[in-house]
Amino acid sequence: MTTENTMLAVDNLNVHYGDFKALHNISLKISSGSVVSIIGSNGAGKSTLLNTIMGINKPSDGTIAFFSKKIGGMPTNQVVAEGISMSPEGSRVFEKMTVEENLLMGAYLKQARQRKDERLEKVYGLFPVLKEKREQHASFLSGGQRQMLAIARGIMTGPKLLLCDEISLGLAPVVIKDIYQKIKEINREGVTIVLVEQDVKRSLKHSDYSYVMLKGKIVMEGKSSELPEDEVRDAYFGVNKYAKY
Ligand SMILES: Nc1ncnc2c1ncn2[C@@H]1O[C@H](COP(=O)(O)OP(=O)(O)O)[C@@H](O)[C@H]1O
Ligand SMILES: [Mg+2]
Repeated sequence: MTTENTMLAVDNLNVHYGDFKALHNISLKISSGSVVSIIGSNGAGKSTLLNTIMGINKPSDGTIAFFSKKIGGMPTNQVVAEGISMSPEGSRVFEKMTVEENLLMGAYLKQARQRKDERLEKVYGLFPVLKEKREQHASFLSGGQRQMLAIARGIMTGPKLLLCDEISLGLAPVVIKDIYQKIKEINREGVTIVLVEQDVKRSLKHSDYSYVMLKGKIVMEGKSSELPEDEVRDAYFGVNKYAKY
């Protein structure tokens, strides 16, 4: 990867939960404007990585730099203010709030608050179904609509980088297609995207560059169009030449 347009650089990152080491010397780079996928099976450490970038988990050592500014260990609200946002795993939304109230929760920061009407309009343009349902409680949304709401809330802060944790989990193929179309549109508008996925084929298809994680390590990386799917699968499952990890 070229370094001149690097937006996010993670260098030798280690993260622990108590005595358990969840991330081992993770290094990666995300270029401005790209879609990057992080592929890995359950427990590989994908969410831990995203949560650490967001300041939810603290690094034991190593650095995270966003436009060269060190953000590792910063509180989440500051990370968001720098321009990073996340659609968390499990399309978590506030069930007892309306769709619009959920979106406004994404605009609680001062900078975002000042531009909330403009942002709401933009989000509703991208997700017309959310506009239709804006007065309804989120608990009435379908799984796909909830996922859209979680993504939409993520872009209410006007991020430069959006981290998407398993946005296709548990959804029907036709809905997944729709959601990936939205991700493409968000990316076209200039937002850099990190996609965390368990589906190898889908990850490669929708990204420019991919990293494969296994047991808290990055074991493979490359341009998505050039990575052989079979080898990505070996890395994903930790078999053949990846059995050593
Ligand atoms: N809060 C936690 N406390 C202790 N261990 C955790 C915690 N969260 C995740 N882990 C462990 O860290 C490893 C990576 O988990 P996670 O980042 O959720 O993986 P993934 O998102 O790839 O499924 C797993 O072994 C998991 O059991
Ligand atoms: Mg996860």
